[in-house]
Amino acid sequence: MSDAVKVGFVPFSTARRGILVIFCDDGLKLGAATRKALGRAANLVGRVAATGQFKGKSGSTLDILAPEGLKASRLIVVGAGKVAAMKEDDFLKLGGAAAGKLRSSKDGITIIADLPDGAMKPDQAAAVASGVRLRAYKFERYKTKKKDGEDPALRAEISFAVGDVDAARKAFARQARIVDGVIMARELVNEPPNVLYPEEFARRASKLRKLGVDVEVLDVNAMKKLGMGAILGVAQGSARPGRTVIMRWNGGKRGDQPVAFVGKGVCFDTGGISIKPAGSMEDMKGDMGGAACVVGLMHALAARKAKVNAVGAIGLVENMPDGNAQRPGDIVTSMSGQTIEIINTDAEGRLVLADVLWYVAKKFNPKFMVDLATLTGAILVALGTEYAGLFSNNDELAERLSKVGLATGERVWRMPLGPEYDKQIDSQFADMKNTGNRHGGSITAAQFLQRFVDDTPWAHLDIAGTAMGAPKSDINQSWSSGYGVRLLERLVADYYEA
Ligand code: BES
Ligand code: MN
Ligand code: ZN
Repeated sequence: MSDAVKVGFVPFSTARRGILVIFCDDGLKLGAATRKALGRAANLVGRVAATGQFKGKSGSTLDILAPEGLKASRLIVVGAGKVAAMKEDDFLKLGGAAAGKLRSSKDGITIIADLPDGAMKPDQAAAVASGVRLRAYKFERYKTKKKDGEDPALRAEISFAVGDVDAARKAFARQARIVDGVIMARELVNEPPNVLYPEEFARRASKLRKLGVDVEVLDVNAMKKLGMGAILGVAQGSARPGRTVIMRWNGGKRGDQPVAFVGKGVCFDTGGISIKPAGSMEDMKGDMGGAACVVGLMHALAARKAKVNAVGAIGLVENMPDGNAQRPGDIVTSMSGQTIEIINTDAEGRLVLADVLWYVAKKFNPKFMVDLATLTGAILVALGTEYAGLFSNNDELAERLSKVGLATGERVWRMPLGPEYDKQIDSQFADMKNTGNRHGGSITAAQFLQRFVDDTPWAHLDIAGTAMGAPKSDINQSWSSGYGVRLLERLVADYYEA
């Protein structure tokens, strides 16, 4: 298993061997519970202070082997920086920084969830534990040999010493399900495209049934009947048939309008006939990061029995060049009835989303729709890998997303929409074309999507920069990040749960 960290909670007073992790601030101050647990050994940290080598800066660590006066074999001090300024997601990062120092251990690991200003609150202690799990995740399924210098995923039982064991357990039980959702999304994105193709993706999404999610899989015939000519046009070039999967979690009041999430699930994007260059094309196995997020999110909501009605819909295809592939110049008719001239077969994500967005808007009349898509390389040029691009026809929804972005650390940056941009995708032969001109590529892509949402409050997240290939961080060492699961789980929790 790629996620082999077991978390438990114990009272501060529990005696400990093995590895001990404590936290200090940027004055090397320790909390009262930490000092008590260390006893005479507490002055070790003071002696380090005198050397000036470790200053307790946020995320920095100090490793003391065979610490004098302690039963523990190793004492790891993790700097928390300015404790008063710590925000919610800083606790996740703190856990991540600690986990970065940990190695699999049979002797057990204890992390003392305590800061100079007192014991961590249950949510904070649970966030540290969640950060450990997120950091520890590795995708090792296809590694058959261990290489020198390559650390395998952390396998350990970790006890968190906390002030209130029951409250911490409860907070963690909730957060653990969200972390499970993030890891599920990461797994899907990391899987190779010969393993994870549309039908297999649909099978994996169908496993959510175990949690009480209603899962419907539309095959090619069903999509034909619905008139989904845009997604089918992309799918037709592949030997592997496309699928649309609709997941429904009904945890809210009967008849309450659902919230809806739509994901781009291009299991591999060669570009099609407008084929991509060979360099880094392998990364295009991650072009289903939006769909992966929707599955992870639906998992999180169902597993924690969220009091909300939620729809998750994903369009699954492979974009391949083939004798039957669609051509530049082709005109397809989308489910909405609007016709689309294909200019570039590599602008396929918007074609997939066009039909799924329309279907969800018309069938479920949701309170809002948020779509996630690794849609454009241009969003990487604009925002890099730190923020996802946010486009919306609704200020309230956009503001809420920006807020939960800051709270969770999965940040979004709002980009413009407008008729001047929209004009660029008018076509001389059809109602629209699938690309604009050279500039503002992320915006014209969003304008295209907007033509398929009607009046439904809608937000589009371009996650091409954040879903995969982002630099390693305190809470993620894997190629894929699972971006969006924590963001949207929080959006639901803070604004849409009964
Ligand atoms: N899947 C790509 C976008 C992408 C690029 C995702 C890099 C992740 C990393 C998308 O389907 C695509 O090919 N977009 C084109 C659009 C263009 C043809 C208008 C792009 O960005 O070049
Ligand atoms: Mn493409
Ligand atoms: Zn793509």
